[in-house]
Amino acid sequence: MNIHQAIAPPIKPQTEIAVASFKAIMAKAPGPVTVVTAQGPDGTCYGLTASAVCSVSLDPPLLLACLDRRSNTLAAIRTMRSFTVNYLAAGAKSLALKFASKDHDKFNDCDWLKPDCGFGGPILAGDIAAYAACALEQDVEAGDHIILVGRVFEGSSTRGRAAMAYADKTFFAGQAPDAPETESP
Ligand SMILES: Cc1cc2nc3c(=O)[nH]c(=O)nc-3n(C[C@H](O)[C@H](O)[C@H](O)COP(=O)(O)O)c2cc1C
Repeated sequence: MNIHQAIAPPIKPQTEIAVASFKAIMAKAPGPVTVVTAQGPDGTCYGLTASAVCSVSLDPPLLLACLDRRSNTLAAIRTMRSFTVNYLAAGAKSLALKFASKDHDKFNDCDWLKPDCGFGGPILAGDIAAYAACALEQDVEAGDHIILVGRVFEGSSTRGRAAMAYADKTFFAGQAPDAPETESP
């Protein structure tokens, strides 16, 4: 027995919380509305709406995204070992819903650019507040999702353009009413 086992109370085997309760709890926490994209070896574009995305480390610059094992985009990311996180701009709700579907034509009628760094997925240039192009550093199995850890090699944010957030099944502008126009240090 190590020191941590001696101090921590035992976690008794029991049934975990019901899925509906877990979802209701998680729905209270606002998250970003991103579209995580990848481009397959034959040039096919993939993308999905994802809120389970957050910063991990400053040095090196790492972020993470949690993707369902059944995601079509996930397979392309694991093959190409890179992806792009597009932080949708406030008001881009219809794009968020489009990329939350299983459609095969999600990129139709959608302007996109390739990252200059030569890897990563499409940048949805006209509809984003920021983006980050990443090399896949780690993919970690976690229940029915995979945690993708990306090392950011390219990205930018648009000053004065609010990103979109999501909580309680509602999309809203993720910006404080009196947010300064300047970037924080
Ligand atoms: C607001 C919102 C947030 C979502 N967040 C995630 C997420 O973090 N991870 C995930 O795997 N799916 C998430 N989804 C569901 C995916 O967008 C959806 O399953 C999509 O159809 C997957 O597409 P793909 O199989 O083409 O990759 C989210 C959907 C919405 C509407």
